[in-house]
Amino acid sequence: TLKGVIFDLDGVIADTAVVHHAAWKKLASEAGIPFDDSVGERLKGVDRRGSLDILLEKSARTYSEAEKEALATRKNTYYREQIERFGPQNLLPGARKAIESVRHAGMKTALASASRNASLLLERLGIADLFDYVVDANHIGRAKPDPEIFLAAARGLGLAPSECLGVEDAAAGIASIHSAGMKAVGIGHAQALAGADVLLPNVAAFDISLFKT
Ligand code: G6P
Ligand code: MG
Repeated sequence: TLKGVIFDLDGVIADTAVVHHAAWKKLASEAGIPFDDSVGERLKGVDRRGSLDILLEKSARTYSEAEKEALATRKNTYYREQIERFGPQNLLPGARKAIESVRHAGMKTALASASRNASLLLERLGIADLFDYVVDANHIGRAKPDPEIFLAAARGLGLAPSECLGVEDAAAGIASIHSAGMKAVGIGHAQALAGADVLLPNVAAFDISLFKT
């Protein structure tokens, strides 16, 4: 039986997928690297360094380690400039209600985010207290699609993976949830999230009553 729900942050709860996208796009344009929406979609849910490597696939030249470090840091600066100004208004519509529906049903909630900015965001959005357990990129070694982050979240809740449901907006995240042995709810478009067990158009459509057995 279902006892807990593990939420992704960027693009599920926080309206940051567009901000990450814009920051990478700006960096790509400055560096003269081609960038289109299909590259943008592949970056979703992928950690900072992994995202940079995907971006650089299209680059005409190679970069040293030090240059890559500098590019990743520059992208993060652009991103931080935006999220420093975030507040509860930057929650995606219905996100708070979706998480609360889980808590009101007596189940546990966790956050599994690939972002090193996750704790800043939780604080800005005013939702840190809605989670029983938080795992972010600072706590794990292997990024999504590896199952490590969702397994760590389940362990933190004291639950078996089979007792948890994962909620994600990115293909890498759905793969991570499935490798962890959990059912996956995809938030967004079927095109990008074909593997999800249940697909919802947005987080406002999420209510735990849909999943109680
Ligand atoms: C999330 C986002 C990705 C982002 C990653 C790392 O998974 O979906 O787009 O690259 O976090 O974020 P960070 O804030 O650490 O650069
Ligand atoms: Mg996401």
